[in-house]
Amino acid sequence: MLIQTPQASTHFSPDYTSTFTPLLSLVYTSASIHLMTEAELDALLMKSREHNSQLGLTGMLLYYDGAFMQVLEGPEENVRMLYTRIGQDPRHHRVIRLLEEYIPERNFPDWSMGYHRLKRADLERMDGMMSFVEVDEFLNYFRESPKRSMILLQSFLKSSRL
Ligand SMILES: Cc1cc2nc3c(=O)[nH]c(=O)nc-3n(C[C@H](O)[C@H](O)[C@H](O)COP(=O)(O)O)c2cc1C
Repeated sequence: MLIQTPQASTHFSPDYTSTFTPLLSLVYTSASIHLMTEAELDALLMKSREHNSQLGLTGMLLYYDGAFMQVLEGPEENVRMLYTRIGQDPRHHRVIRLLEEYIPERNFPDWSMGYHRLKRADLERMDGMMSFVEVDEFLNYFRESPKRSMILLQSFLKSSRL
């Protein structure tokens, strides 16, 4: 059995993927069934990171007052399999795919699942982003123009937390 410290399991080891497998990046948004507590988010993240490391998946999860945004990237088959599973998870609903594209290399290579709990100030600081009062406003804003989601996700590349 491979024993990893919490920090080590957060980081992706490139050994898991074959160079010949197409890399897919998939972004979706969803609404949580109820407002998530820190403990619930921590549990979700811990499990996700452990699982994603085994599958050679990387990405970033954002949570904003009842809304999720997540990018999954890695071998196409594994991304699709996980996305199907996530879509059936009873902790959220209204799961909508925003972006799906093949990528030459990973955008989030260091994160088996980066995480940031978004605050209104995060959005206000960013050019062109607005602050959202309602979950629906948040979801609609990105559904109207899906490319905005990647800009937001990538802005947390350096400041995600373990
Ligand atoms: C918003 C959201 C994001 C999730 N992200 C991941 C993820 O990145 N990786 C993962 O393995 N599970 C993720 N899950 C959990 C899966 O839906 C599913 O519960 C988990 O993969 C099942 O693992 P198990 O069969 O080992 O219990 C996520 C769930 C939600 C609600």
